Amino acid sequence: MKNRFNRLTSKEWLPFQKSWFRYTDDHKLLSEHILFFSKAEITDQNVLYAGDNKEIVQDICTQGTIPLLSEDEFTDQALQYALLDIRQKSMSLPSLADYYDLRKHIIALAVHIFRNLEERRFLTIFIPNVFINEIYYPIAWDLAYQLSGLLSLKDEKIACNNHLPSGRSMPYSSANTNTFYCLNFRKDENSGGVYTEKQHHFFDLPLSDKDQKKELNIPAWFILKPAPRKKNEVLHPAKYPEELVTMFLNNFTEKGQNVFDPMSGTGSTQVAALKSGRNAYGTELSTFFMDIASKRCEDVVSPMQKELFVPEDISGIYKIINKDARLITPDDFPEIDFMITSPPYWDMLNMKGAENQAKRIEKGLQTNYSENEEDLGNVADYEKFLDDLNNIYFNIATLMKSGSYMTIVVKNIKKKGRNYPFAWDLSSLLMQKMVLLPEVFWCQDDINLAPYGYGNTFVSNTFHQYCLTFFKP
Ligand SMILES: C[S@@+](CC[C@H](N)C(=O)[O-])C[C@H]1O[C@@H](n2cnc3c(N)ncnc32)[C@H](O)[C@@H]1O
Repeated sequence: MKNRFNRLTSKEWLPFQKSWFRYTDDHKLLSEHILFFSKAEITDQNVLYAGDNKEIVQDICTQGTIPLLSEDEFTDQALQYALLDIRQKSMSLPSLADYYDLRKHIIALAVHIFRNLEERRFLTIFIPNVFINEIYYPIAWDLAYQLSGLLSLKDEKIACNNHLPSGRSMPYSSANTNTFYCLNFRKDENSGGVYTEKQHHFFDLPLSDKDQKKELNIPAWFILKPAPRKKNEVLHPAKYPEELVTMFLNNFTEKGQNVFDPMSGTGSTQVAALKSGRNAYGTELSTFFMDIASKRCEDVVSPMQKELFVPEDISGIYKIINKDARLITPDDFPEIDFMITSPPYWDMLNMKGAENQAKRIEKGLQTNYSENEEDLGNVADYEKFLDDLNNIYFNIATLMKSGSYMTIVVKNIKKKGRNYPFAWDLSSLLMQKMVLLPEVFWCQDDINLAPYGYGNTFVSNTFHQYCLTFFKP
């Protein structure tokens, strides 16, 4: 197939579509982006670069015979790509007011870029979320929101710092320097073309600075290689690995404490909790999955199984009830010390076209959770879905002590060519009452890449999930 978009072969094209990558050095980072998003044959359109790595970019463009402009030289020349690298500036912001100044500058520049960017070409921004005066601000999410009226946000790619031998040993306390965002915007038929300020709650509630300072032994990003799922676990379309739960339990709970999951699925939360000596509670709407979850818990604690474990490791008790999570009351469970959960990702499982769905159909496996109207995976209206979920978590927060934490595993969603930043939208709602800790990425490395858009445009394969942790003040 003819490649109208860049000069890459399909083999070179494919790896760039993965939604996360190991960041090693700026030369590689910049050249991969410039060579993907520009085409040297287009000699009458420039690449615009603004950032601290001008010399590297100059080298890359000279070698690739790509016409380059700096911000100072940019007046009204036609652009085929614009790349704004604001990592350094973002990481040295003295105050939130300074971020607002930077944001104003970037928005003005983006408006200028929009006017000169060719149709269906891209603007990329490199930006991390940051601590400013020891308070964590998701400025990357804010900037993505602010520019989304102007250009179409197609995707975010996560750069995962790879300077240590294994990604798994990244210290969480400096999460912001160990990952950053590559936000990719396109000028297209869905671009609004005007800047309108977008409201959110990302900056609403900076509490006393000690709240976010818990020292955690969690990597900023991680890859898991869980054992293949057992027969009854495969029946569920979207299970998360117990290893993921254990990692968070070790940080946020002590033995004997109460762990809760309002949407238990196959009971991964409870199984991990019981195996590490915590008590395990939960609700689940589907009786079918509730039974599987309860059976798995029983297998962990049953006397016959006990010999398999170190005795003190299975002191926990469990209770999973068949209930709509929207209806949980204080009488259902004892006080909760920690919640970890993953909701339906909107109604995506009802999108039968997805590749994974086709494979499940072939194997005769269930593709969604249920046909139940109360199932949040069947709520088609995005705003209602978000609202319901937010209310569930706010309600559960009332069953938790001040100073406790909840971790929610979610991902941003692409549906029918549109981007729904579910992880960010949910965070914004929750930040009305709770404090966000630095996000941790669960990066998936075991799924085959699909060559979406080859030769035409950039469409990523979303292989990163957010583990969002909130502190209840
Ligand atoms: C992403 S899955 C959870 C998977 C689970 N973490 C695991 O590892 O097996 C979401 C679950 O939410 C359940 N669910 C959907 N709507 C619900 C509701 N209103 N109340 C309780 N559970 C609900 C679904 O049946 C599904 O099992």
